[in-house]
Amino acid sequence: MNNWKTRYAWLREFGEPAPAGTDCPFHTAEAEAEIYNRNRKEDAPRLKPVLDETLPEEAYILKSGGSEIQIKGGSKGVLYGTYAAAGSVTEKVPVPEGLNAPYWSLRMLDSWDNMDGSVERGYAGRSIWFEADRYSYDPARIRQLGRMLASVGINVLCINNVNVHVPAQDLLDGMLDETAAFADLLRPFGVRLMVSVDFSLPLQRGLVSADPLDENVCLWWKNFAERAWKAIPDLAGYLIKADSEHRPGPNTYGRTHPEGANMLARSVAPYGGVVVWRAFVYNCTQDWRDASTDRPCAAYDLYHPLDGQFDENVILQVKYGPFDFQVREPASPLFYGMKNTHLGCELQLAQEYTGQQIDLFAMPALWREIFDSVGTERIHAVAAVGNLGRDACWTGHPFAALNLYAYGRFAWNPGVNPAEIVRSWVRQTYDLPSEQEDALTDMLMKSRSAYEKYTATLGLDWMMRPETHYGPSPYGYEFDVWGTYTRADRDAVGTDRTKTGTGLTEQYPEEQKALYSDSSSCPDELLLFFHRLPYTWRMRDGRTLIQRIYDDHFEGFDEVQKMQKTLADLSLPEPDAQEAAERMNLQLLNAREWRDVINTFFYRLSGIPDEHGRKIWP
Ligand code: GCU
Repeated sequence: MNNWKTRYAWLREFGEPAPAGTDCPFHTAEAEAEIYNRNRKEDAPRLKPVLDETLPEEAYILKSGGSEIQIKGGSKGVLYGTYAAAGSVTEKVPVPEGLNAPYWSLRMLDSWDNMDGSVERGYAGRSIWFEADRYSYDPARIRQLGRMLASVGINVLCINNVNVHVPAQDLLDGMLDETAAFADLLRPFGVRLMVSVDFSLPLQRGLVSADPLDENVCLWWKNFAERAWKAIPDLAGYLIKADSEHRPGPNTYGRTHPEGANMLARSVAPYGGVVVWRAFVYNCTQDWRDASTDRPCAAYDLYHPLDGQFDENVILQVKYGPFDFQVREPASPLFYGMKNTHLGCELQLAQEYTGQQIDLFAMPALWREIFDSVGTERIHAVAAVGNLGRDACWTGHPFAALNLYAYGRFAWNPGVNPAEIVRSWVRQTYDLPSEQEDALTDMLMKSRSAYEKYTATLGLDWMMRPETHYGPSPYGYEFDVWGTYTRADRDAVGTDRTKTGTGLTEQYPEEQKALYSDSSSCPDELLLFFHRLPYTWRMRDGRTLIQRIYDDHFEGFDEVQKMQKTLADLSLPEPDAQEAAERMNLQLLNAREWRDVINTFFYRLSGIPDEHGRKIWP
């Protein structure tokens, strides 16, 4: 087993902190190759990076010959190519031939870090760079972060929570020098900073308004951008959550979202900056009695009429599903309907609703489905809410690093095969005998389905505890303001979102509309997302709906038991073995709780017993 010098496992083959003072990407590629060459196994080829400025900035070409791999690359590509070559050697696979270039030019990691050091929806410890309302970090760890991101081609890091709390409003003025110093640390790794800004910032700075059509406001933002880009010339841009969950936005002034976004976009355009405008807008003070308002319809209703009105350098960032990072959702209808807007797809690596880095949940298959159903050509940029923190292993659960790794690989090439990516991460992380490598890959690939069975079968999202988003609470959201209701009663469950109901299906193009509208063609896993059905409804396989609900919850628990056995048989290095085992114990308790609470809930409502007579509490 390798003696890791860093706990960031997939970089273990060249696991030293990146040297300080590497002030240009090419030097970093050389430094990485040097570390790798020094640590490589005797029979492994040497790496030789060569800067080739005729290539596109981020592209590279690998050439393997005898005892050497030559890496020709543009100014950033040469570094990416160095990691790719080292990765291939580690995985014992041939180096990819031909020109390798990223599919998307903006590959963002959004951090929901607050300046007090907490991380909103963070499950891996405190912020790596903020504490006590200021920057607070170990530069070596930030360089390590830069390597981690560069090794999978992530090129933008948004450093603060989309909910911009005081004093994060100061990041690009009062604390501009510190932010610039932070950007300097990541620049050698091709990672540019982005900052979440507060739409009402001019108000906090003494203006009487933040109205995007007010000349003084425009001028204020123009000056703000000028100072920010002077200090950080490669600043990527701003991320904005506006008119969403009580955040300020243009609606306060009776202005539209394009009016708000474009005003900011014009202020950053001279510097090549972008404005990433989040489309996570819905009524978060809904009355549960109101069955005609349906949260998943909200974003399309708002934005579709505005298609074509956003400036070129605005990216409308859309969460993958119309709700909110749930275990199972159809792709957001905005992806199909906004043909004249630059759309970004927002994923979430932080396992907010998907197990909180305790329960296993490998995401690549979820992303494959979204990208397959939308078609990547409709997407202009990708972002993912990060899952990193100060934990020794960075991601809470050591296996949760898979999702970050896989995200980078998808962002580089969205055509990748989920199982191959999972195997790739396993190989780059652990040195296991091949049957164990198969077992771990298989377990990770099945982890999503197990979690789905015990928490969200048939598209029944939102049955978790509202305070934590972990653990079962079937009525937790039912009488709340969030627009997330299962409306389960003694006869039926689910929401009719077809044209006889809330009409969500009508927001999709013909193909998806036809698929989802008809309960006989709707995929099982979305059945109760789109339809309200009686417990006695017959599924395609002949089971009743209620029986399928019971079966899935029993199966989900059994699958976690199997995963626990698989895990126990792996010869993982410490401390990963112990950490993974401890979290698996918690996962098993969680699966048991979900199984028993949800089955009991439906049994008590419906009065229909389990056909197999398994234990359900009357
Ligand atoms: C979810 C999450 C919030 C977050 C929000 C967002 O609702 O629970 O913590 O602020 O998404 O994406 O803005």
